[in-house]
Amino acid sequence: MGTVYLVGAGPGAPDLLTLRAAEILKRAEVVFHDALVHPQTLELAALAEKIAVGKRSGRHSTAQKFINKRLVDAARDHEVVVRLKGGDPTIFGRAQEEIDALRGAGITFEIVPGVTAATATAAELGVSLTRRGFARHVVFVTPRTAAGERENDWAASVLAADTAVIYMGAGLAETISAELIRRGKRRDTPLALVESASLPERRVLPGTLADLPELARRAGLGPTVVLLGEVLRAVLAESTATSIKEIEAFLKHA
Ligand SMILES: C[S@@+](CC[C@H](N)C(=O)[O-])C[C@H]1O[C@@H](n2cnc3c(N)ncnc32)[C@H](O)[C@@H]1O
Repeated sequence: MGTVYLVGAGPGAPDLLTLRAAEILKRAEVVFHDALVHPQTLELAALAEKIAVGKRSGRHSTAQKFINKRLVDAARDHEVVVRLKGGDPTIFGRAQEEIDALRGAGITFEIVPGVTAATATAAELGVSLTRRGFARHVVFVTPRTAAGERENDWAASVLAADTAVIYMGAGLAETISAELIRRGKRRDTPLALVESASLPERRVLPGTLADLPELARRAGLGPTVVLLGEVLRAVLAESTATSIKEIEAFLKHA
């Protein structure tokens, strides 16, 4: 029996892959990959059969149970099987379901971490998610729950944190903004919505918590995260200064 590697592909840019991940991809015989994995990353797996199992743009993803079974079956026929996931496999990546299935079938597995969207986004914004004496508590949350799942109190976590990174939240922007404001978060809390971090088509939309629904309307179809907290105040101040300068320049020439 072979080994199944749960590998983080990073946030999008192919050069944000770890050296360990690249080395395993080169040896892979089968790669089951998410939809947003960069084509150059897949090219590293030159010997492998590549099987897309991710969901994107309204297309149905392969059911998780079926992916679990395919991983187990592939490990019975191949030495090196890769499950390649966007970002880090252990952050909102359903890795535990795959780990449980592999453990249950007695199959050896290894996790190869990747750069998660939260840190790629902080890099894009040029801010630190933590800050000495000021921001000591970061949460990664999602308000999204699948059908039949128990609701989670994501808002309580965001309210308690100095910095919050909200995954899969753009479609719920109205709810996020309204719920946090209703429960006492300041309307002017600095925030940024970042789309397609690390990729050439990246977009950074800074604003405040009250602006979130409008920012989400302006975002495109790429994956987006919302970063929230005082560590973003400088980003917000800079963008306001830029807007004021642009308005002044426009008025001068009008
Ligand atoms: C199913 S979760 C997977 C997260 C992934 N495992 C990680 O560690 O980044 C998908 C969500 O991650 C976020 N995401 C992934 N890549 C991103 C990127 N390049 N820029 C912004 N957000 C991203 C978005 O919130 C997207 O809806």
